[in-house]
Amino acid sequence: MAKVLVGVSGGVAAYKAVEFVRLAVLAGHSVRVIQTPASLRFVGRATFSAITGAPVLVSEFESDPSRGCWPGEELPEHAPISHLALVENADVFVVAPATANLISRVAAGSSDELVSAAVLAANCRVLVAPAMNNRMWENPATVANVATLRERGITVLEPGEGQLASHGEAGKGRLIEPRELLAELDSAGGRSDFRGVRVLVTAGGTREAIDPVRFIGNRSSGRMGAALANAAASRGAEVTIICANSSIPTSSDVKVINVVSAAELGDACDQQFPNCDLLLMAAAVADFIPTAAADQKIKKSEGVPTIGLTASPDILAGLAGERRADQTVIGFAAEHGGDPLANARTKLKSKQLDALVLNDVSVADIGFESEENLVTFISADQELELARGPKLDVAHSILDQIKILGTNPQKG
Ligand code: PMT
Repeated sequence: MAKVLVGVSGGVAAYKAVEFVRLAVLAGHSVRVIQTPASLRFVGRATFSAITGAPVLVSEFESDPSRGCWPGEELPEHAPISHLALVENADVFVVAPATANLISRVAAGSSDELVSAAVLAANCRVLVAPAMNNRMWENPATVANVATLRERGITVLEPGEGQLASHGEAGKGRLIEPRELLAELDSAGGRSDFRGVRVLVTAGGTREAIDPVRFIGNRSSGRMGAALANAAASRGAEVTIICANSSIPTSSDVKVINVVSAAELGDACDQQFPNCDLLLMAAAVADFIPTAAADQKIKKSEGVPTIGLTASPDILAGLAGERRADQTVIGFAAEHGGDPLANARTKLKSKQLDALVLNDVSVADIGFESEENLVTFISADQELELARGPKLDVAHSILDQIKILGTNPQKG
């Protein structure tokens, strides 16, 4: 877990920084907060102080009761200079929200208040999460300032797109969601138990062409796979995701390969599998594909067509069958009806998997397309229902179980 310094500047999105700090503390990080004077108009320091259990500083001239230390650390005898000591002791410095004004001050090398002074003095990793009106974000001055920060090695995250603070306005400029920011923090050095592990994830649902405009598909959104990719990347893994018809965003350091059909997914897996230590096969792959796709749109006037189907090769079973001894293979199973546990156990064995994640998709509000999930992690000697929660949390729980499995990807 990391020692995180959070710099809050004066924008409406400061309220989201409160949630981010809460999540970071819950995730086990040790957090200190510093604020610009303008940010106090939006969130008071008592809020951050209560959540972090540490004093919050607003000026470089006030003394730090914690003497540049994080909760639980032994205080030095000599009081240090706050903006120097805090960034010197931090593993990661997250500036969120970063207003256009704060970004411009940092680009200019200004140090006229505590947050920008701390950025100037930082030699730890600095993440900047912008939040502003879309016209301010797109203004050439901001574009140039952001480019300057990036050239200097500061990670400036892309803001989110959607509704903005000013009534009725929408566009790019929102502070990214607290959970996404936490994932970025983790991949910037927060947690590293999968460092050095090469993870291959498949996500989404394949589409099998009937003709140029119609296909057989399924309801997978790719959310679970994207969450797995983000969770693994945030814990230091080198991650490649093969996405079948999904546009769910993944963190910037995840390599994305887009495919459409089961055959394309199979080809991409064949290429990528030899280079991975851990396969997480979350994609929903067609079991049956049209025997032949028509090369022109089938005309309604020609009557109801008969579509012949053929079984598609089981990609996962094929990969597991040819894996090296140092590779771990985890399957997923979307079960609906019958005896889900028994079906999942059969798949675990017949596909020769190290473990299988059972998703009972007959349960409302989980599985396909949902924000949350509830799964059972099944290995040779256990069946464990993991806590229901957002897919990112479930993804972390799955990774925790893979670590406990004690198979191969235990390099961290
Ligand atoms: O994408 P979301 O909307 O977030 O939903 C997540 C999910 C429900 C799709 C996911 O959690 C899940 O359960 N994925 C597995 C879906 C599936 O195809 O289950 P299955 O029981 O049909 O297949 C078992 C395993 O074999 C899977 O790992 C599948 O990828 C693999 N398989 C299946 C058929 C095939 N021809 N080749 C395969 O490799």
